[in-house]
Amino acid sequence: MNVLLIGSGGREHALALGLSRSPLLGRLYAAPGNPGIAELAECLPVDPADHAAVIAACRARGVDFVVVGPEAPLVAGLVDDLEAAGIAAFGPTRAAARLEGSKGFTKDLCARHGIPTAAYGRFSDRAAAEAYVRRQGAPIVVKADGLAAGKGVTVAMTVEAALAAVADCFAGAFGAAGAEVVVEAFLEGEEASFFALSDGETVLPLASAQDHKRAFDGDQGPNTGGMGAYSPAPVMTAAMTERVMAEIVRPTVAAMAEAGCPFKGVLFAGLMITAEGPKLIEYNVRFGDPETEVLMLRLEDDPLRLFRASRDGTLGGMACRWSEAAALTVVMATRGYPGHYGKGSEIRGLDRAAALPGVTVFHAGTRRGDGRLLADGGRVLAVSAVGATVEEARDRAYAAVDAIDWPEGFCRRDIGHRALKR
Ligand code: AMP
Ligand code: GLY
Repeated sequence: MNVLLIGSGGREHALALGLSRSPLLGRLYAAPGNPGIAELAECLPVDPADHAAVIAACRARGVDFVVVGPEAPLVAGLVDDLEAAGIAAFGPTRAAARLEGSKGFTKDLCARHGIPTAAYGRFSDRAAAEAYVRRQGAPIVVKADGLAAGKGVTVAMTVEAALAAVADCFAGAFGAAGAEVVVEAFLEGEEASFFALSDGETVLPLASAQDHKRAFDGDQGPNTGGMGAYSPAPVMTAAMTERVMAEIVRPTVAAMAEAGCPFKGVLFAGLMITAEGPKLIEYNVRFGDPETEVLMLRLEDDPLRLFRASRDGTLGGMACRWSEAAALTVVMATRGYPGHYGKGSEIRGLDRAAALPGVTVFHAGTRRGDGRLLADGGRVLAVSAVGATVEEARDRAYAAVDAIDWPEGFCRRDIGHRALKR
């Protein structure tokens, strides 16, 4: 099978590594890919937002199957357009991708089907949203309805902060994504990322991970796309996993099928494990980043076979094996991230780091220039390791971080702290 992987981040580098080991794989292409992916695949200078160009590239190279990494092309209907052109693709259709593309859509679906999530209101009118915030009081959470590159959520500790977030949304701070606003109750507990694979009907639990969303040690500083992760997440015991499948994931997949937009692909449930049990914070309709980096290091099955079964509707009877080992990843980001940061600083020592025991270094935002490796984004590397325990995986990952020579970069030093405190 010739496969085209869409995307250019650490998640896609990890997916490329998994796909490259598949006995089913013919040639692996990536669009646009990155320097790490280029060691495993042929990178094509094709913009994933240009669906006609993606289809033309597939036809020119004899691509049989497209794996879409990021959410934006899914929400924009890339899978619909590929399938309409006769090219099989892994991931949800545009209608099914509304589970991530519209927070209001998901909240309404949860309400209709009794799926546990925070109480909420949906508003397209500023005054009504403000009145709701005042009635509910703080803490309270304000969210732009649509995709806002991870920036549309304000966890407000005061009514004033919540009102400011409402004003920002309606003033266009998040563009069209903020034309509608969801205001919801603040949930208390421990967060976990849970992944499941669906073929529209059958759902296979994958694995859990815990992300670290704040920029700095001790969960301080601004929210980011994720500064590190480990898998498995100890809070997701076998019993908790079964509850999440029974109360949240399976009812969602059944509801989507019933609504005429069956969900195929990876369903990523962002969960809060509260005193009353698991509650859904949000869905994503793709793998997480940096969660995928740790999942791919623990997966003992062929991801290509699983992804193809998701697309073909043949997941029934399949299972998925995971290594007992722990995996942990530390994100190295450019100083200034998630605010303003420069590009083009040189990174040295990657080969030395990657040669350490159990270590894999994924590229998240790099490019090559004059034969050198340069930083080309906010999150730049996902320095990852496996180990018998979270502690061993952590020590190996940080040994690799310390072998990398990149003065313009920074990372958190406490990835895994929750698991290590248990
Ligand atoms: P999201 O962009 O939806 O992943 O939200 C970013 C972060 O905001 C989440 O990872 C949570 O830490 C936090 N968050 C979102 N919704 C809630 C909620 N209802 N209660 C508490 N924290 C929340
Ligand atoms: N790490 C969180 C996400 O991928 O959305």
